[in-house]
Amino acid sequence: MEFSIKQGLPDKQRSGCVVVGIYEGGKLSAAAKLLDKSAAHFLSGLAARGDMDGKPGSTLMLQRIANVAAERVLLVGLGKAGELTPKASVDILRATFGALGKTPAKDAVLYIIDEGAGKDASWVIRQAVFAAAESAYRADSLKSKPARAATLKSITFATLEKPAPALKNVLDQAVATVHGVELAKTLGNLPGNICTPSYLATKAQALAKTHKSIKTTVLEEKDMKKLGMGSLLSVTQGSEQPAKLITMEYHGTDRKHKPVVLVGKGITFDSGGISLKPGAEMDEMKYDMCGAASVLGTMQAIAEMGLALNVVGVIPACENLPSGRATKPGDIVKSMSGQTIEILNTDAEGRLILCDALTYSKKFNPDTVIDIATLTGACVIALGNVASGLFSNEEKLAGELLAAGEQTHDRAWQLPLWDDYQPLLDSNFADMQNIGGRAGGTITAACFLSRFTQDYRWAHLDIAGTAWKSGKEKGATGRPVPLLTQYLINRTRKP
Ligand code: BES
Ligand code: MN
Ligand code: ZN
Repeated sequence: MEFSIKQGLPDKQRSGCVVVGIYEGGKLSAAAKLLDKSAAHFLSGLAARGDMDGKPGSTLMLQRIANVAAERVLLVGLGKAGELTPKASVDILRATFGALGKTPAKDAVLYIIDEGAGKDASWVIRQAVFAAAESAYRADSLKSKPARAATLKSITFATLEKPAPALKNVLDQAVATVHGVELAKTLGNLPGNICTPSYLATKAQALAKTHKSIKTTVLEEKDMKKLGMGSLLSVTQGSEQPAKLITMEYHGTDRKHKPVVLVGKGITFDSGGISLKPGAEMDEMKYDMCGAASVLGTMQAIAEMGLALNVVGVIPACENLPSGRATKPGDIVKSMSGQTIEILNTDAEGRLILCDALTYSKKFNPDTVIDIATLTGACVIALGNVASGLFSNEEKLAGELLAAGEQTHDRAWQLPLWDDYQPLLDSNFADMQNIGGRAGGTITAACFLSRFTQDYRWAHLDIAGTAWKSGKEKGATGRPVPLLTQYLINRTRKP
């Protein structure tokens, strides 16, 4: 899909569809007013007769209006002026692209950024690009007959006044972000028999082929053994697929600048291991590599933008399966940090691969390390499918990540990392155990990771509730690629 911004009059657009807004109570947006004027008050007449109430998310598709150059006009309800919540704005944009998708229109001109929808123009542009891409996305690569591709190919954001030059940059960044989101979705949706650790490694190598600014390295199990990654290796023990430790180094600025390191959980299937999960919905554990997918998506997005900073992506990738060789509850392993871990539950495997990847990350002399993981079912209980769980050992970093989440409507919510929770991880036989009991399960998982991140500024995103949707809408969301990418964009703005 192509996106552009331009200034122009709504009645003069030779396009498949012109989109204008109408508020509750029949008040027309500025662009709708102009259209209404050339079309002999066709739109205000409709509103007066009650054919369009302007409720947020309502749409009315009109055909071939006299004195309007576009083939169609889509009226979208904007709710009460000045009263839209971010969710309502997103719903309006989704409804807009839903309605456009039902027509054969190949292109559309949208007069929506002037109206702000309660947010600034940058916010609306980002959400519009995300909603457009979402409506065109098809997860059909493994169907013998592909789904009908979206006909809408070109979207123009139009304004009445000259658009601020900075918006072009915002648009380009949103488009690159969406490409990253799509990569993360596609990888997430692939089944475990295709998307193996080796497959992820191949994708990381392909990224380095496309973008000269990325260098990919893949470590094998024997290399990890030499590094002393006993914790990571204990998880892959039951699997026939070789584990991989993937690193992608992106250089967008002088090497003297310390990098941000993104560490993504890459469990390509989580059966629970010997602590086997129940059968219902176990298929969804193919999504246990969505942290890794978000790192790949973010690396692609920043390389496409050519962001002026250095970023390293680190992906510990393996399967968690039971077998005669698998780790057993009670087994004690030694992590790369030297700390020993009593594995009381083999299903708490994410932290076991992440802790070694986090220790390994020190090698890059990081400015900041952020790990992203579908880590705990407890996070889904706490925050549902709306917010990702956020932890950090530095308040400023937490604030920056929360802000990037607001900017992209890919939001996170901070939870406490207080040391009061640490004793729950005490073990009688090792330096720590890998579970802290049912209470505060998301927090004790973060506390476990915090024991390996003392040497640098660090944040942890638990995306168990946000990385994919279940039920009829089952599919990866590509989150938190928008949050991560925006955080990195924002960092380049600082002196
Ligand atoms: N990958 C799961 C977490 C998960 C579960 C994410 C359900 C999304 C939906 C993780 O490896 C896991 O199994 N965690 C356990 C930890 C427990 C054994 C302490 C959990 O959440 O049940
Ligand atoms: Mn698990
Ligand atoms: Zn898992």
